[in-house]
Amino acid sequence: SMDWTQVGALTQELKGKEVLIRGRAHTTRPVSKNMTFLVVREKGFTVQCLVSTQSEGVSRQMVKFVAGLNRESIVDVIGVVSVPENPIKGATQQIDILVRKLYCVNKAMPNLPINIEDAARSYVEIETALQGGVQLPRVNQDTRLNFRVLDIRTPANQGIFRVQCQVGMIFRQFLLSEDFVEIHTPKLIAGSSEGGSAVFKLDYKGQPACLAQSPQLHKQMSICGDFGRVFEIGPVFRAEDSYTHRHLCEFTGLDVEMEIKKHYSEVMDIVDRLFVTMFDSLNERCQKELEAVGRQYPFEPLKYKPNTLRLTFEEGVQMLKDAGVEVDPLGDLNTESERKLGQLVLEKYGTEFYILHRYPLAVRPFYTMPCYDNSLYSNSFDVFIRGEEIISGAQRVHVPEFLAERAQACGIDVNTISTYIDSFRYGAPPHGGFGVGLERVVMLFCGLGNIRKTSLFPRDPQRIAP
Ligand code: 4AD
Repeated sequence: SMDWTQVGALTQELKGKEVLIRGRAHTTRPVSKNMTFLVVREKGFTVQCLVSTQSEGVSRQMVKFVAGLNRESIVDVIGVVSVPENPIKGATQQIDILVRKLYCVNKAMPNLPINIEDAARSYVEIETALQGGVQLPRVNQDTRLNFRVLDIRTPANQGIFRVQCQVGMIFRQFLLSEDFVEIHTPKLIAGSSEGGSAVFKLDYKGQPACLAQSPQLHKQMSICGDFGRVFEIGPVFRAEDSYTHRHLCEFTGLDVEMEIKKHYSEVMDIVDRLFVTMFDSLNERCQKELEAVGRQYPFEPLKYKPNTLRLTFEEGVQMLKDAGVEVDPLGDLNTESERKLGQLVLEKYGTEFYILHRYPLAVRPFYTMPCYDNSLYSNSFDVFIRGEEIISGAQRVHVPEFLAERAQACGIDVNTISTYIDSFRYGAPPHGGFGVGLERVVMLFCGLGNIRKTSLFPRDPQRIAP
């Protein structure tokens, strides 16, 4: 009939109280036949437990049993909170538990493929030890992903996926408060939704079909269906050929589409307020999680400002030119020039979050609206964090004849998207929207160098398991 206490909630204020916790046998450190230490871990938090024959009801047999527990076994512990004189090394909670009872609820196998202590070690710690002549075990990325269930138990990973959860929550809360409707569009579709060849093809009851590369077409069709403003959180499939630090074959798309009254800046206004709110809320709500991430993967907090900086593509090209980097003024920026521009923007404007808009039309998808004053450019934008893209968005073509013309010009078989184009023949309001990659937002907010770190079970060109 005792209440459970979370390991993360064990504080010195509980001194002298008896508590009941459930966690994992993180590490054991036998001291003698009469005494052993056991560190118990729950959701990334750890507490040191002392099992000693000096405590009421603890036998030598029990000390031996605890000392021999397999790591990661699930245990229930009842004991009294004590406050040691010296701070505890290797545990997050600054108390000891003097154990009275301990049950092993379910044991783990011996010799696990990943030792969580090793997987949780920071690069800094490994380097420092190396300088002192000690080589600490390292766990490489492939091993982590092969045994992901173990890997995601590290405090940093616990933090990453709790931050990811909040990004989705804040996205949803903000948009609901702005009168958006959450929708769910099909992931089995007849043709490609973004153009290009990166689609997973499949057989749909004898008809050729593919996995949706984005909810693009159906979110626009929902706008033709009078919702006014919609959003979706769902899987996006890209048959990527290249193996990079920022591309997955399946990722979570945060998509937005809305009517536009006058100008595509209305869409950028939403991006601005949504993301400034998001970064503020993450810093406020996820302090512990961000600290846990930073302990293993040190990073500087993101520099951003209210009223997000907006630069035109032409201004960006000019800034690069002034810095000696020549780029095609009507082409796309490559990863390297995007990074470089990110640095230049940080130096000049003091922000690592900004919007680049009015992209050349030729490098945008077929549904993108050309600029009214110059059709070489388009009413479109990308958004960057720390010099890397997290969003692309635009005003869309809402005139059906022109849409068909643009699709054709971009080499798309209009027959495969005829129901989409027809939607605009029934009367369509001017509209625009954007798509965000969830894994990229978390990766870049936390200054992580690889998108596999922010996908729970990543799918890349070389991996479809676990
Ligand atoms: O730039 P993308 O391809 O744009 C679209 O899908 C449009 N339908 C969006 C719109 O509404 N106009 O993808 C949008 C975002 C990118 O900015 C990036 O953050 C992410 O999705 N993304 C990827 N994330 C992980 N792996 C990949 N292979 C990604 N491709 C795009």
